[in-house]
Formats: sequence, structure tokens, C-alpha cells
Amino acid sequence: MIIAIDGPSASGKSTTAKAVSKRLGFIHLDTGAMYRAVTLGISESEIELNDQSKVELYLKSLKIEFDQNDQIMLNGKNVTDSIRTVKISSNVSKVSAILEVREKMVQVQRNIAGGNNCVLEGRDIGTVVFPNADFKFFLIADITIRAKRRFLDLQESNELLTLSELIESIRKRDELDSKRDFSPLRQAKDAIVIDTSFLTIEQQVNRIVEIVKQNKKRKHKEYV
Ligand code: DC
Repeated sequence: MIIAIDGPSASGKSTTAKAVSKRLGFIHLDTGAMYRAVTLGISESEIELNDQSKVELYLKSLKIEFDQNDQIMLNGKNVTDSIRTVKISSNVSKVSAILEVREKMVQVQRNIAGGNNCVLEGRDIGTVVFPNADFKFFLIADITIRAKRRFLDLQESNELLTLSELIESIRKRDELDSKRDFSPLRQAKDAIVIDTSFLTIEQQVNRIVEIVKQNKKRKHKEYV
């Protein structure tokens, strides 16, 4: 069974997807972390984004894996923390707009999730990666509330941005992600929209888990 959770930046996808996967005993796949890892790799290799042949060559040798604890490995190196910097956040939209990058990531995502019970979070899961997903959710939230959440996340790191800087960076990333040519951030027609602005994490997780449990039998009968 595939559960797709898409939505804009800081809409609560990661926390929700992790908790939902735990409650249902599914694997969890954070596809945003994959685009962040490629962004880190390309930057460390000092490849110019418009140098298509170098980008393609880099992608050929690229290996992205997750371990049992959701740690992400880039060519064997644990990059879980280093992909969460402000620099990566501001460059990731450019890298994820490259067609070849998307093709490679989608292939890896389908390999990991296909044939498994999986909760995938991202921007194009319900529209492109698994358009026939059993359940599709699209999380949204007010931008100031999203920026406040990011602000609290960043308190644990030493990269402090003001609330208005965070609102601006989230707005910019959403715009780039929604306007790109390939697989833009878009709500699938059959997605269930959940506004998390005034929900607790527990409430948003419960809502998804209840919908999945209530509709599981009916959904699977349709496929028989
Ligand atoms: O979920 P996140 O903020 O970690 O995602 C980082 C970026 O990766 C996001 O700005 C756009 C890109 N992304 C994407 O293009 N497609 C996905 N399925 C997931 C993320």
C-alpha cells in the first residue's frame, strides 16, 4: 500500500509522515531529503548546475540509501544532518528542477517503495511518482505558522533566521517548486487536503490514520 503525503515547505509533512508510518508499521520515505542530498553532492563536487554533462555524469555514480533509522547515506556517507542547512534549503529548488535529477530520484523512490507498504512525503508523489497511490494527502498551512515551526526547528541548530527571513525563504521555495516545468508542486485531483495550521501533530496523524483504516478494506476490494 502506498500513502502519498505532499504539500509545500514546512506544512508538517515530515513529522506527520514519520508518525503515520510508525502507527501503521509502514516504511517511511522522505523524498525531500533525497533532493537535498543530491544538492549537497553537486555542491561538494563543485559542479555548475547548467553543466548538463557533468550533472549527468555525477548522477550516474550517485547512490542514495536510507538505513533502518531513517538516516540518509550519500555514496555511503551519512549526510542526515548536513542536508538541513540554510544553504542547502536555498539551493535545493534549483537542483530539484533539473529533469535528469528528477528522473533519477523517481526511479530510486519507486525502487524503495514499490512492493512495500510505504508512506512517501514530497511534492509530486501523488501526481507523478505514484499517481495510483492508495491514499493521497495534501497538507497545507498558513505561511506565518509554517515559518514559526521552522523557526523552532532552527533553534536546535546554530543557524538563526528571523521570522520575516523565514517567511520570505519559504515563500520563495514554494514559488520555485510550484512554477518549475517538470513535476511541479501540485495537489493531485484526488488528494485529501488537510490544513494543519491549527491542528496538533497528534490530530493530523489521527486524521490520516483514521481515513486509511476506514477505507482500507473498501479500497482493496476495488483492486481485486
Ligand atoms: O521537503 P523538503 O523541504 O525537505 O524538500 C526539499 C526540496 O526538495 C523542496 O523545496 C523541493 C524538492 N522536492 C521535490 O522537488 N520533489 C519532492 N518529491 C520532494 C522534494
